Amino acid sequence: MMKLKKLSRNLAQIPSMRKKFSSSAAAGIQKEKTDCVVIGAGVVGIAVARELCLNHNRNVLVIESASTFGTGSSSRNSEVIHGGIYYPPNSLKARFCVRGRRLLYEYCKEHGIPHKQIGKLIVACGHEELPKLNYLLNRGNENGVEGLRMMKGSDAMKLEPELQCLKALWSPTSGIIDSHSLMLSLMGEAETHGTIFSYNSTVIGAHMEGNQINLHISETKSLKNLDSKSQGNPDIILLPKLVVNAAGLTSTALARRFNGINHGVIPQSYYARGCYFSLSNITVSPFKHLIYPIPEDGGLGVHVTLDLDGNVKFGPDVEWLSDIDDISSMQNNFDYTVCADRANKFYPAIRRYYPSLNDASLQPAYAGIRPKIAGPGDAFSDFIIQGEEGHGIPGLVNLFGIESPGLTSSMAIAEHVAAKLSRF
Ligand SMILES: Cc1cc2nc3c(=O)[nH]c(=O)nc-3n(C[C@H](O)[C@H](O)[C@H](O)COP(=O)(O)OP(=O)(O)OC[C@H]3O[C@@H](n4cnc5c(N)ncnc54)[C@H](O)[C@@H]3O)c2cc1C
Ligand SMILES: *[C@@H]1O[C@H](CO)[C@@H](O)[C@H](O)[C@H]1NC(C)=O
Ligand SMILES: *[C@@H]1O[C@H](CO)[C@@H](O)[C@H](O)[C@H]1NC(C)=O
Repeated sequence: MMKLKKLSRNLAQIPSMRKKFSSSAAAGIQKEKTDCVVIGAGVVGIAVARELCLNHNRNVLVIESASTFGTGSSSRNSEVIHGGIYYPPNSLKARFCVRGRRLLYEYCKEHGIPHKQIGKLIVACGHEELPKLNYLLNRGNENGVEGLRMMKGSDAMKLEPELQCLKALWSPTSGIIDSHSLMLSLMGEAETHGTIFSYNSTVIGAHMEGNQINLHISETKSLKNLDSKSQGNPDIILLPKLVVNAAGLTSTALARRFNGINHGVIPQSYYARGCYFSLSNITVSPFKHLIYPIPEDGGLGVHVTLDLDGNVKFGPDVEWLSDIDDISSMQNNFDYTVCADRANKFYPAIRRYYPSLNDASLQPAYAGIRPKIAGPGDAFSDFIIQGEEGHGIPGLVNLFGIESPGLTSSMAIAEHVAAKLSRF
């Protein structure tokens, strides 16, 4: 019962649970009714929790396996507010990026979240890339991205003296944001409206009893002894009306542990690591705007990102990782190492548009991993926001493949998920 008592230190904050957990003589597995459970306290889970309690009057419990919020992809990205150019018209990525961006800028202004709308140049450096730049302009226009403008190379190079390119696409709505401040602010609002964040607790599976989801929760610590083939013994079972699976890199593996879901509707997952290198020994940034090359397979290309402290970083590249077992994934035991020798590929890629990049000026910074649902060379894949119509379980929404532009889209995803669940 030790395990239960520790876990209960978090869960006991829920008024209806206080009584049960205070008794040390608890026998068997506790079952507790709850209104909504959000799995994962990344930027998307947090935004969903806030939306459910603030605008839909729901009682929300967020279950997070790590010891704090935002330790997954939400703190390992470029922190770029994207315009919405790249994605196929009417895809969820296109719609949520454009809507999410507008919501995000508004929110940042209202709540004093550090951000800057610095704009971005997508640059073509070879003649073969020129048609792609035109294609991106048309696509962005179709997606309703405001203010896009093609620039002559010479004009772009006047704007950015260190830049070399033949032609550039200017996107004035792109910007940068302090994602940690964003998460803190969204969480603060959620907590004010009754949301409880329970850390060090992991959802290890679920089963159905009639139409009632039984969610299996375990203290994260006890996962160490769990093998990925076994169901595991939950410390507590929650009986929620709504469940939002926002477990990021783990959402597919977790859905496969839900007894009662047809595995055929859960997409195959792939993991693509992206490493960042920072520019060392600089006194002033060589660039004032975000600089992106033409996108590559699996990512947007090794680009220049500026952060709000004036640091310059390059990345992320694309490196496909092999599969990871689900229990390791729940503990975020992904390999986030930045291999210093990947810099050898960065120098030539960056010098195509920034020729005066000095030798030995790149320092390994950090890495993030994209939760992909399409593999190398596969066609575009969209965000998947899967409700009852997709998997047959009332009150459950699975979020799959929430890679870039997931940060930009977070508030729009939250609106959409909450609206999808409003009839339950
Ligand atoms: C390299 C890289 C660069 C990116 N750049 C940008 C960008 O510039 N702009 C942009 O808009 N987007 C960008 N993105 C995308 C963006 O970072 C993600 O879409 C977003 O952070 C996803 O948030 P999330 O909440 O879905 O996932 P996460 O932040 O990964 O959160 C999931 C949470 O679930 C928890 N969890 C997992 N399993 C369980 C379980 N079983 N029980 C309980 N909790 C669990 C995890 O610990 C984690 O905290 C980038 C992504 C990457 C990888
Ligand atoms: C979560 O676990 C860590 C280490 O295992 C511990 O330091 C921390 O206090 C725990 N947090 C909560 C909220 O219980
Ligand atoms: C950067 O500075 C460090 C320490 O000051 C020095 O060791 C290194 O050689 C410098 N690198 C470059 C590229 O100038």
